[in-house]
Amino acid sequence: MDLKAKLRHVMDFPKEGIDFIDITTVLQDAEAFKACMDSFKDYAEQLGDFDVIVGSESRGFIFGAPLACQMGKGFVPVRKKGKLPYKTIRVEYDLEYGQDVLEMHEDAVKPGQRVLIVDDLLATGGTTEANIKLVEQLGGEVAGIIYFIELGFLEGRKKLEGYKVNSIVTF
Ligand code: PRP
Ligand code: MG
Repeated sequence: MDLKAKLRHVMDFPKEGIDFIDITTVLQDAEAFKACMDSFKDYAEQLGDFDVIVGSESRGFIFGAPLACQMGKGFVPVRKKGKLPYKTIRVEYDLEYGQDVLEMHEDAVKPGQRVLIVDDLLATGGTTEANIKLVEQLGGEVAGIIYFIELGFLEGRKKLEGYKVNSIVTF
């Protein structure tokens, strides 16, 4: 299925000049969502065995959690600051303007576990870089990273050198 054609482009969202790629047109289409999840699974299977999937609030949850369940793995949510109830580790990361914080429970990844990172989008790579830091701080090993969409022109991959990076569609 041509998933690229199923994505909706919304011009000037959230601000002027931005061509926002809207995943909701894929999510609401049962066949397209299934095809997308099947592609995630194909890439995940190529990475060899892994223990757990890490996904970031909020769009990373949409793909990461069902993939984990389908593959018989656990799911670890990374959340924006102050949302996780137990003890956390945290990492500051860069946004387009300023910085924010991402957190993970300190017992979510065990030393030596192989971790698959899943998100909807690779743009600058800042979010994924933060995820990697969280996983590695707990002694986990990043087995690979899979995205639905990659904005190749932003060159986010440069931040992820040395990691296995896959995306289902690229712009
Ligand atoms: C978006 C998207 C990715 C990230 C990609 O998340 O879902 O997680 O940006 O950008 P980057 O590669 O430049 O870090 P956002 O922080 O907008 O939050 P959301 O998932 O809650 O929509
Ligand atoms: Mg996100």
